[in-house]
Amino acid sequence: MIKQEDAIGVFDSGLGGISVLRELVNQMPNENYIYYGDSAYAPYGEKRKDQIRERCIWICEFLISQGVKAIVIACNTATSACVDELRTRYPNLSIIGMEPALKVAVNDKINQNVRVLATKFTLTADKFQNMAATYAGQHHIECVACPKLVSLVEQDQLMKQDVVMPILNTYIKGWETLDSIVLGCTHFVYFKQMIKDITQYKVKIIDGNDGTTKHVQSILQTKNLLNTQTCQGSIRIFNSSDDQQLLSLSNKLLKSKIGLV
Ligand code: DGL
Repeated sequence: MIKQEDAIGVFDSGLGGISVLRELVNQMPNENYIYYGDSAYAPYGEKRKDQIRERCIWICEFLISQGVKAIVIACNTATSACVDELRTRYPNLSIIGMEPALKVAVNDKINQNVRVLATKFTLTADKFQNMAATYAGQHHIECVACPKLVSLVEQDQLMKQDVVMPILNTYIKGWETLDSIVLGCTHFVYFKQMIKDITQYKVKIIDGNDGTTKHVQSILQTKNLLNTQTCQGSIRIFNSSDDQQLLSLSNKLLKSKIGLV
């Protein structure tokens, strides 16, 4: 029996989803959360669908064993790989996925120049390809896979400007012609402020964290599953890696404002 005070499960290939958890906690502080980072198996973006799918099922089973009322797939790559299958497998649970926020970028305007930064897997998956095809006639959409940004986060190099800037610059190159950049990977949200600085605030930088959080809230509300307790909820963080530093890095990122603009 699912209860209001049950936790919201959140997972990602690693620490990118902590940026989503941060937004969830910010907007719904009284909820309880269980986060699973799969850093031992990151990056998902370079893996095969069956490998990602196997990990996602394992993680969902773990979260369910901990007693969750909903699962947020805080990973665009995992969503592209298997959100439909997870929904079929766990029909009693609300499963909320994430996908590059192209619709927000285009926003009913015409002739938009949009660059989508995501993983190789997300960009080549049918889900994204089909979505991009619906906008491609009216807009110019470029796709750039950015594997190095994922490792910068996982290896705690976010604050190393001399390492980060040259890498970011290669992915952002030619930004002067763009109307917007979509951050289609949750790891990339930490770079939002840096990308704003590089693009001199002339390009809209869009991520899906706020939209996803509002979606989770509305789903829980519809199902009468929002937690009514008024005190601060609990947050438990797990990681598949043996490296204890990843847990402290997760906590550090959760409390930080890095990338928030
Ligand atoms: N954070 C994940 C996403 O949103 C993917 C990172 C990875 O390649 O593992 O797509």
